[in-house]
Amino acid sequence: MKVTVHRKAHFNAAHRLCNKSWSDEKNIEVFGKCSSPNYHGHNYELVVSVTGTINQDTGMVIDLKILKDLIYEKIEKEFDHKNLNLDVSYFQDKIPTAENIVVVIWDILRKELSSHLELEVTLYETPRNFVTYTG
Ligand code: NI
Repeated sequence: MKVTVHRKAHFNAAHRLCNKSWSDEKNIEVFGKCSSPNYHGHNYELVVSVTGTINQDTGMVIDLKILKDLIYEKIEKEFDHKNLNLDVSYFQDKIPTAENIVVVIWDILRKELSSHLELEVTLYETPRNFVTYTG
């Protein structure tokens, strides 16, 4: 019997969608105003979902306090109020689209969770636009 535990989190960050190997014209053609050189911000909403069996001693899949602290330390502190292109090393060579951000977040959290737990990460870039990744 498996149960999924979800924890929501939030960060604000700026980004610019730009392929450095393309001309300005090509970037504007592909990314539109998301490529404008002075960056723009999003209120990102994050849902971290951990699936596993219920531990018979604790009655829990994962201690939500531990999950909360993990998300805070590894994601919110790294991403909140940052310029993703300039301040966050993961995006030195990666365009900070929602797709790439969710994969980066999943990779960071996966390393911190024990292997018997399954992980899914959902990232909302806007209330209507969101991506999911399960590895
Ligand atoms: Ni954007």
